Amino acid sequence: MATINDNYLKLKAGYLFPEIARRVNTFVESNPSANIIKLGIGDVTEPLPEACRTAMIKAVEDMGDRSTFKGYGPEQGYGWLRETIAAQDFQSRGCDIDGSEIFVSDGAKCDSGNILDIFGKNNKIAVTDPVYPVYVDTNVMAGNTGENNDKGEYDGLVYLPISADNNFLADIPTEKVDLIYLCFPNNPTGATATKEYLKAWVDYAKANNAIIFFDAAYEAFITDDSLPHSIYEIEGAKDCAIEFRSFSKNAGFTGTRCAFTVVPKQLTAKAADGSEVELWKLWNRRQSTKFNGVSYIVQRGAEAVYSEAGKAQIKALVNFYLENAQIICNKLTGAGFDVYGGVNAPYIWLKTPHNLSSWDFFDKLLQTTNVVGTPGSGFGAAGEGYFRISAFNSRENVEEAMKRITEQFKA
Ligand SMILES: Cc1ncc(COP(=O)(O)O)c(C=O)c1O
Repeated sequence: MATINDNYLKLKAGYLFPEIARRVNTFVESNPSANIIKLGIGDVTEPLPEACRTAMIKAVEDMGDRSTFKGYGPEQGYGWLRETIAAQDFQSRGCDIDGSEIFVSDGAKCDSGNILDIFGKNNKIAVTDPVYPVYVDTNVMAGNTGENNDKGEYDGLVYLPISADNNFLADIPTEKVDLIYLCFPNNPTGATATKEYLKAWVDYAKANNAIIFFDAAYEAFITDDSLPHSIYEIEGAKDCAIEFRSFSKNAGFTGTRCAFTVVPKQLTAKAADGSEVELWKLWNRRQSTKFNGVSYIVQRGAEAVYSEAGKAQIKALVNFYLENAQIICNKLTGAGFDVYGGVNAPYIWLKTPHNLSSWDFFDKLLQTTNVVGTPGSGFGAAGEGYFRISAFNSRENVEEAMKRITEQFKA
């Protein structure tokens, strides 16, 4: 009989979002008239910017004409998109990133998991706790962890706790690790990182020959000019960091699918024989073999993100969600909640009232206000006692949800 990858059996059964869906469905079955407002999953709600739609319609027309038709494109993405990204997202911010170091893909989620293909099995891996669950689960699947223990942690991973006590910024580890996942602006806490903070990580990584996986899927939400948008704004980061970016949250591409990963050519790691190997070459080989590129139509849509019209439309879109976040922060603070994030990020992270567990607060909120959020404990053991509210929704839903919550939880 064929055998399976047993590592999948180590994964905790009740994954967060299916469990939320199960509880909501049970509630709706017994309360069919309830008007549920979902501020849980971080999916966007507003339509694609016009500039992107227009570019994609034009690209569909290209596909209908023999002279402009496109078959397989380069696995790494079309040169015109890679060059535009390098110029506008990086060189314009003083980062020396070349178009050839940009790998266009169908998602930062896939890339942040797939990147493990090019790394060895003996790396010590650090994640924050709480964390975007994909980083942990893809390491479990790859066999980089032991079993899930009674603390809800996987043996073999190094967990770096983040809480209000350290402003949701993990302390630099005292032990030596090889791979580190950082995400700023952060999902789930909405925390941001200063240049000084990232510099400390870059210094640590360089001193320990470690690689940082820097997830900047939410960089468009940074409004504070002093904050870095890319880890390459930090001196030395090209020697130690891979960056993941996405068009999902800035341009509403969660359903359209386009993202990119930056792998600097000078980045190296060690082979079993002790030699240093360029990670760019391995990732290029990996993508060329296992990936056939993002569709021409979608890449034209992504290119339009950088047009003058596209930039203006995306700014308006991001501002709309940031205004939602501001409303949520103000209303919840007024109702007496301890509220974090939501300023340079679309997520609001709050302390549950009366020391309720994350899931108890989830149930209470659902039952008393019909509002759905995400229990903090679903992002890791140290998320217990916290709760995530997403600003991705219509203004009407956000205002109605806040009205219900403030009526129910008066300060
Ligand atoms: C931190 C983080 N990275 C990556 C992603 C996924 O990005 P994409 O839609 O490009 O796969 C998400 C989505 O919620 C996220 O929160």
